[in-house]
Amino acid sequence: VSPVLVAGRHLRTIWLAADGGAVEIIDQTRLPHELAIVRITDVAEMALAIREMWVRGAPLIGAAAAYGMALALRADASDAGLERAATLLGAARPTAVNLAWAVDEVRRAVATLPPGARAEAAFARAAAIADDDVATCRAIGEHGAALLAELHARAGGGARAVRVLTHCNAGWLATVDWGTALAPVYAAARRGIPVHVLVEETRPRNQGMLTAWELGEEGVAHEVIVDNAGGHFLQRGEVDVVIVGTDRTTRAGDVCNKIGTYQKAVAARDAGVPFYAAVPHSSIDWRVTDWRAIPIEERAASEVSEVWGVDERGARARVRVTPARSPVRNPAFDVTPARLVTGLVTERGVCAATPAGLAGLYPERAA
Ligand code: MRU
Repeated sequence: VSPVLVAGRHLRTIWLAADGGAVEIIDQTRLPHELAIVRITDVAEMALAIREMWVRGAPLIGAAAAYGMALALRADASDAGLERAATLLGAARPTAVNLAWAVDEVRRAVATLPPGARAEAAFARAAAIADDDVATCRAIGEHGAALLAELHARAGGGARAVRVLTHCNAGWLATVDWGTALAPVYAAARRGIPVHVLVEETRPRNQGMLTAWELGEEGVAHEVIVDNAGGHFLQRGEVDVVIVGTDRTTRAGDVCNKIGTYQKAVAARDAGVPFYAAVPHSSIDWRVTDWRAIPIEERAASEVSEVWGVDERGARARVRVTPARSPVRNPAFDVTPARLVTGLVTERGVCAATPAGLAGLYPERAA
């Protein structure tokens, strides 16, 4: 059973088209106002879809890149074609480690095969990566729901909701299904635990609206707040737990996630509120030892200077909010050092955000 219901219908975020000729995705730049499904037919289009954030969220970027490799190999299965596709997709977005991980997975799955067998093997590997993501997120949901159940009981149980603060969108739209940070919310709600989510809008691109849309479709109580209100609600005792996703978590437990996450971790620590990151195995970078080495994507100034929405007639509109000549900076991610993280919710269980904590759950990787 999937939590993902859109108008009562189950959807994943990426799938092979019924005719096999394309990969289909939801164009997330149109949400929450319009649910548009787009056909992607070649690797250049998939790279564009990742760069322009039609697909976004670390695990979904990984699955999209894997399907992009398969589309590339369908057109050119030579060694040179393989390397060209890996380079093109690898450069689409720098921060989420899932992208490089998925490209590598497909490359390894096909490298020793004759060119004639590569495309089929790549599509199979992409489908396996997508299915693994669903199972991974589902398990994160179960482990995280146990945490929420504990917080609910500690707060007296009954109708009193567990109050969750989240940043960005780490729901099913950011993965193939279920989500990471929102999977525990969905799983807890399905266990009958009342949950209320404070949804930060997450400027500049307002991914919080994707979270609000998801929660609304699933019938989970929530309120949208501006990013600047998070500290206030934490300080006033109106949040029981903060749960966020991650684009890259180091082996030391440092969590790189959407810009603004760090501030919430600082405020949560000051307020004595637990701060968890939901971390699938595909988002752990076992090679980076110093979080300062994580590449932080700098995106276009227009994302800060302009906002998208719909006008009173429901037509899509873009307005500028900054003075025309003011320069802008737009880092897309920040890093929350492990010392501010209460724990990591992985598909293998919850661990401390420490080298030993992660090594205990993933001994084969830590070695
Ligand atoms: O720039 P985005 O929208 O791709 O960033 C998404 C996030 O930062 C998410 O929190 C992260 O990818 C985890 S998604 C399960």
